[in-house]
Order: sequence, then structure tokens, then C-alpha cells
Amino acid sequence: MLAFIWAEDQNHLIGQNGHLPWSLPADLHYLKQTTLNSTIVMGAKTFQSFPNGALPQRKNLVLSHEPQKFSNEKNIQVANSKVQLQKLFAHDSRVFIFGGPALFQMFLSEVQYLYVTQITAQFVGDTWMIPIDYSQFELIKRTQGTVDKVNLWPHEFLLYRRKNLEI
Ligand SMILES: NC(=O)c1ccc[n+]([C@@H]2O[C@H](COP(=O)([O-])OP(=O)(O)OC[C@H]3O[C@@H](n4cnc5c(N)ncnc54)[C@H](OP(=O)(O)O)[C@@H]3O)[C@@H](O)[C@H]2O)c1
Repeated sequence: MLAFIWAEDQNHLIGQNGHLPWSLPADLHYLKQTTLNSTIVMGAKTFQSFPNGALPQRKNLVLSHEPQKFSNEKNIQVANSKVQLQKLFAHDSRVFIFGGPALFQMFLSEVQYLYVTQITAQFVGDTWMIPIDYSQFELIKRTQGTVDKVNLWPHEFLLYRRKNLEI
């Protein structure tokens, strides 16, 4: 299974200055529960946005033109091309593309599932999700998130599956 997983605001914004534009612990919890024991695939900058290095209990794959930059990092594997990346996850059953936009674009034609958290708010930022033709996907699950003292914005967890996917 090859999936994208991301969170976006009403304008498809996903990043601000190397980080998420919002604080939404419920989404981080969802992200963790969804990707545990799976493979996550990300660009160098997304990896560098993690405060404590590799995300635990997941196979962390990073794409960079300069893999040697990451030689001191533990529990990651670094590829310098799409082909190399694909070799690293070829035998994995659950693979999540974690972003950023270049990674989403790279796997857009083959992605099977879209896990998107839609936040009903507008933030300031500098990085946006790539355009997706949702007519090629069907919505198979929609869960309303809970707004509370630490999760201030209304949000929904959506799951789309590519139409005519053989499963
Ligand atoms: N809201 C969300 O769900 C979400 C998800 C993911 C990311 N984000 C946000 O998005 C931002 C990061 O996105 P970004 O676009 O700036 O960076 P990114 O995609 O995470 O990383 C870009 C880097 O990936 C490497 N790369 C990309 N294409 C490559 C290729 N074809 N071959 C080899 N290496 C390649 C390069 O690393 P080198 O420079 O090392 O060569 C490039 O600088 C952050 O703000 C992050 O918080 C948000």
C-alpha cells in the first residue's frame, strides 16, 4: 500500500519556515497511530523539522542530494534518487509518503490512498500541498476531530482510495 499522509489548511497550506503552521496535537496523534510499524518517506527538510530525529517504531527513509549530511543520524536510511528510494521500500507492505511537495509530486501517479487532515482555518506559510485530481479518488472514511483547549481548530480526518484500485 502506497499512501500520502498530510495535514492542510483551507488553502492547502502545509508548512511555514520549515515547520507546521499550526499546533494540533490531535493530528500528530492520528499521524502516529496511522503510521506506526510502517515505512515513512520524506524529503530532507521534512526530516530536519523533527525535533528528535527519526520517528520511532517506523522505518524512516529520507531523500537528499547529499546523503552524507545525515551520516550522524540514527535509524534512518537516506537515498539520493527516486529509484534508490523505491529500492529501500520495495518489499514493505505499508508505505506513507510524508512530504514535502516534491515527494508528493514524485509519487502522485502511483499513490493509492490519501490520508488528509483538513483544518478549517487559514494560516500564514510558505509551503503548499500539490494539486490533486480528486475525481480519481473516492472518499472511504471521514472522521470529525474534536475541538478542545489544545486543539483549537475544527478538523477532519479524510481517507481516499484511488478508484478502480485492485485490492
Ligand atoms: N502539513 C504537513 O502534513 C506537512 C507534511 C510534510 C512537510 N510539511 C512541511 O513542509 C515543509 C518542508 O517541505 P519542503 O518542500 O520545504 O522540503 P522537503 O520536501 O521535506 O525536502 C526537500 C529536500 O528533499 C530533497 N529532495 C527533494 N527532491 C529530491 C530529489 N529528486 N532527489 C534528491 N533529493 C531530493 C532535497 O534535499 P537536499 O537539500 O538535502 O538535497 C530537498 O532540499 C516544512 O515546513 C514541513 O513542516 C508539512
